[in-house]
Amino acid sequence: MHKETLLQRFTTMSIYNCAVQPRRSKILWMKITNLIQLSISEISLIAATLQKRGPCHTLIFGLGNDSLFWHLLNQDGHTVFLENNLIWYEKVISKHPQVQAHVVQYNTYRSQWQTLLANPATLNLALPVEVTAKRWDVILVDAPNGWRDNQPGRMKSIYMASKLIRPGGDVFVHDCNRKVEQVYASTFLGDIHLTASIGRLRHFHMSDEAPSALTRI
Ligand SMILES: C[S@@+](CC[C@H](N)C(=O)[O-])C[C@H]1O[C@@H](n2cnc3c(N)ncnc32)[C@H](O)[C@@H]1O
Repeated sequence: MHKETLLQRFTTMSIYNCAVQPRRSKILWMKITNLIQLSISEISLIAATLQKRGPCHTLIFGLGNDSLFWHLLNQDGHTVFLENNLIWYEKVISKHPQVQAHVVQYNTYRSQWQTLLANPATLNLALPVEVTAKRWDVILVDAPNGWRDNQPGRMKSIYMASKLIRPGGDVFVHDCNRKVEQVYASTFLGDIHLTASIGRLRHFHMSDEAPSALTRI
């Protein structure tokens, strides 16, 4: 059972406070006090999209110090997180038990990205039926780690985002300054759907028509 210290209560309060009214100043304070990696502008863009949509189905690849914020921002909707690091999963969930998350296994190394790209059938990620049974309004890909060749890389996350997003949905991919994220987002989400590029974040707004051949491989 997680025991909340005074400092943790203070940092969590800044998340609650920001979720009520996610202005830049509050996002800045929340980011600093909670050591969130996404930039203020990146958080603002995703938050604005979620607020514009209202309560919706949101799927997030990766638990982080920002997870409670996304959960609260979409409190009347449904937010689900996917996490591959069991120790990190337990740490975040014990701190914020209201956050709903599943542990997933990628079984990939970033070094395999070109081979996997040539065989999209190998990019399928085993997920709980609860995740695959619906199409999601908003998807954020910010995991797994992919800054070294011996880490899983985000190949499967981006591919699965292209399969699980609903027509007219919004997909955000972080760390698109890196080649793998860039190539996979471009291939499976399509440059034609790229609507914003802020810092290392790319925003893809999918078309309203039925799923295209591009996204349903
Ligand atoms: C790239 S981070 C981004 C999290 C969040 N969106 C943010 O901006 O802070 C997401 C992944 O990094 C890993 N991670 C993040 N913080 C961690 C920590 N303190 N210890 C271990 N793994 C961590 C987790 O496996 C997680 O899926």
